[in-house]
Amino acid sequence: LPGSEVIVVANREPYIHERRDGVLRVQHPASGLVTALEPVVQATGGTWIAHGSGAADREVVDRHARVRVPPDDPAYTLRRVWLTAAEEEGYYYGFSNEGLWPLCHVAHTRPTFRGGDFAAYRDANRKFADAVCEEANGPDPVVLVQDYHFALLPRMIRERLPRATIITFWHIPWPNSERFGICPWGPEILEGMLGSSILGFHVQAHCNNFLDSVDRYLEARLDRERQSVVLGGQETLIRAYPISIDWPTRWAADAPAAPLCRERVFADLGLAPDALLGVGIDRLDYTKGIEERLLAVERLLERFPQFRGRFTFAQLAAPSRTRIPRYQELNRNVEEVARRVNERFGEGDYRPIVLLREHHEPPTVFRYYRAADLCYVSSLHDGMNLVAKEFVAARDDEAGVLVLSRFTGASRELGEALLVNPYDLEEASSALAAALAMPREEQRERMRALRTFVSEFNVYRWAGRMLVDAGRLRKRDRVSG
Ligand code: G6P
Repeated sequence: LPGSEVIVVANREPYIHERRDGVLRVQHPASGLVTALEPVVQATGGTWIAHGSGAADREVVDRHARVRVPPDDPAYTLRRVWLTAAEEEGYYYGFSNEGLWPLCHVAHTRPTFRGGDFAAYRDANRKFADAVCEEANGPDPVVLVQDYHFALLPRMIRERLPRATIITFWHIPWPNSERFGICPWGPEILEGMLGSSILGFHVQAHCNNFLDSVDRYLEARLDRERQSVVLGGQETLIRAYPISIDWPTRWAADAPAAPLCRERVFADLGLAPDALLGVGIDRLDYTKGIEERLLAVERLLERFPQFRGRFTFAQLAAPSRTRIPRYQELNRNVEEVARRVNERFGEGDYRPIVLLREHHEPPTVFRYYRAADLCYVSSLHDGMNLVAKEFVAARDDEAGVLVLSRFTGASRELGEALLVNPYDLEEASSALAAALAMPREEQRERMRALRTFVSEFNVYRWAGRMLVDAGRLRKRDRVSG
């Protein structure tokens, strides 16, 4: 879309400014959305509109709440939106993360819907719509709306900028229509999203679920063959665009070679040179199956005594959404399982599970990816899961094994991983054992195939496909006047 203005709206900002011990620092948040999108926005330039969430965020912006980023090599503008504590509570913690998040993920946490939260969600969406209109220089920008925080935003933008090309991407799964019916404001959500020109999901199954929901709850015209919906004379294309990571990823390029990473991590964890290491990297979120993962490690040690005293599983877990009771409960449960397993199988200095519950910056995460014999991604349900793809990107030594839940979008693409049902502890522990015993030659073959796939189907292709589709629509609109 040469010459077009690109505006991205995502709740989470790519750079968070904090002040620690008086020193201004920039944090890279743990977010699949940010991981994927940031390199794309660096490449296209433009503006990223996000909630200004860092304690020092206000210190570095101009009077329009703008700051040029990346801080060390500016390529685009970050425009921050300030939310009141009540807005953050209702819009972010409430409707987005206690309502829509559990509604869309099959992880057996009941969604909570409160009228006040939805009102705050609507108000916050309006605030972001104002910001989009302020940032737009012309009547027809390309607006990339990201994720479940903004279901109402596409319609609000459409009303004020009718000629905008609005591409909305939903980064999490979409539930089946019956489950979607739980949401008291289902029709308003659907109408809001259908303000988009294009609406993207990771996999076709979620597109189908969305079309079924529209069919069931709205009076709109569905065209299953074109995969589109017409509402009030305006068409929205529903398309699958599996997201990915940049390739080569800058973090992999910057990290030391695998043997050095292994030395450093083994020293940090106090492991013997012949120890075996598994890693898990996640936000501390109940959709990620972290308890099930630790139980699989326990089952592994029960069934295969040869790994006792030798296998260590390091779980890096970034605290997330900690104000929400369900996340506090998860934190306690994970701690309890780790304690129990360590008590059962620990001996002397040996602890089978190392739980590192803090935020880790990307260089540390990549060090762990490179140091490990296996990475276990055990999500109970996940739109895509980019940890799986980052692990593959990190392993330029073509070693290490990915054990991956079947309930991730990524499992549809990464067939050379060992695919498991994370609830099935027999299957999962067998896969962990198989990974630890896998000959180097087989590791190399699988990793090579995975790396070829991810390098080809990288995030630039994801963005490129969406923008090409958007370009076609713009041309068509121009031709038809
Ligand atoms: C998921 C969501 C993203 C979100 C990320 C981190 O990947 O799809 O929108 O940014 O989790 O969660 P947080 O609430 O910290 O932004």
